[in-house]
Amino acid sequence: MNYRIAVVPGDGIGHEIVPLGMRILQRIASAHGFSLETESFGWGAGYYAQHGTFIPEERVDQLADFDAIYFGAVGLPDVDDTLPFKLFTNLVRTRFQQYVNLRPVRLFEGIESPLRHKSQKDIDFVIVRENNEGEFVQSGRQMYPDEPEGLAIDTNIFTRKGIERVAHYAFKLAQSRRGHLTNVTKSNTMIHTLSYWDRVIAEVSEGYPDVTYRKMYVDAASANFVLHPEYFDVILTTNMIGDILSDLGGAIMGSLGLGGSGNINPSGDFPSMFEPIHGSAPDIAGKNMANPIGQIWSGVLMLDHLGEKAAAQDLLAITDRVTARGLRTADLGGSASTSDIEELFLAEIEQTR
Ligand code: NAI
Ligand code: MG
Repeated sequence: MNYRIAVVPGDGIGHEIVPLGMRILQRIASAHGFSLETESFGWGAGYYAQHGTFIPEERVDQLADFDAIYFGAVGLPDVDDTLPFKLFTNLVRTRFQQYVNLRPVRLFEGIESPLRHKSQKDIDFVIVRENNEGEFVQSGRQMYPDEPEGLAIDTNIFTRKGIERVAHYAFKLAQSRRGHLTNVTKSNTMIHTLSYWDRVIAEVSEGYPDVTYRKMYVDAASANFVLHPEYFDVILTTNMIGDILSDLGGAIMGSLGLGGSGNINPSGDFPSMFEPIHGSAPDIAGKNMANPIGQIWSGVLMLDHLGEKAAAQDLLAITDRVTARGLRTADLGGSASTSDIEELFLAEIEQTR
């Protein structure tokens, strides 16, 4: 089997950890008897600085021909930081109907959580974030911003179809895990949109009697991330709440550099896109210091999505063996380089052959 992967390093540390991640994925693929054929695209904020666009509009659809997109992050300090989301991530996520943003949270072997007394068995859940609508539709305007009467409006949009499809995905995921789903919401104050969100999810939940369903407000959920992460199995939440909670999820894993994610088009009509939860980290770019594990874990999710379950499980187990060995990049308080971690991965893969 051969898969065609569009590789988009983006900016900053993406240029280091995306090719590294691909090298590791190629090795694991060959150990499992399939191959990943790649084509690289130099899009992002660097491209914008030269060409006035993050991704040439007419070439977005070119990505539709691939089986998956392996992405780093876009953004550079001297490029307006409202642009990357609008002109790249959001564009690809909506154009390819990647309406699920999957963000697993788990503690890797040997890594200490900043949460005292919490171990691997306590921190193991998945955030399913609605990825196409909600707070991030960017429908709004500013009026007279320089005047005393200045005002600004953002409209949140939730549709029955949009809520139902992500809810079905999350309930099915819960069925394949420990059977618990928590809807993280704020319907007590967002009384129109989020009470509709709650209502539609409660309706969908009736089709999954084997899944325990409950609702939790985001303020309480934030506290529980820190105090009782073991409460969670699958979290279903909105675009903005999921964005914020997944950084908190990264933090309780020990570092933002450990978090992987998938932007999933469950129907398979379009390719899905896999990227770490962090950004382009321009402060450490080019220094061989970045933690590549979030990028590698995004690759695990990509293999799983492609149907290469055994290779995905294998690479996740290898990640645990690598972290168990105690070598740490600077974000985890160590002094190992990005390439040191790559070497450990490659050595572990050799041993499994
Ligand atoms: P960031 O996630 O890039 O960095 C935050 C902090 O975490 C920095 O101190 C960074 O050095 C550290 N960090 C992040 N990833 C790391 C890794 N793999 N290893 C070690 N340390 C790591 O977030 P920030 O600084 O807010 O944004 C930087 C740029 O990235 C901005 O232009 C932003 O717009 C963009 N960005 C892009 C995203 C995307 O393309 N999906 C997502 C988030 C931010
Ligand atoms: Mg974010």
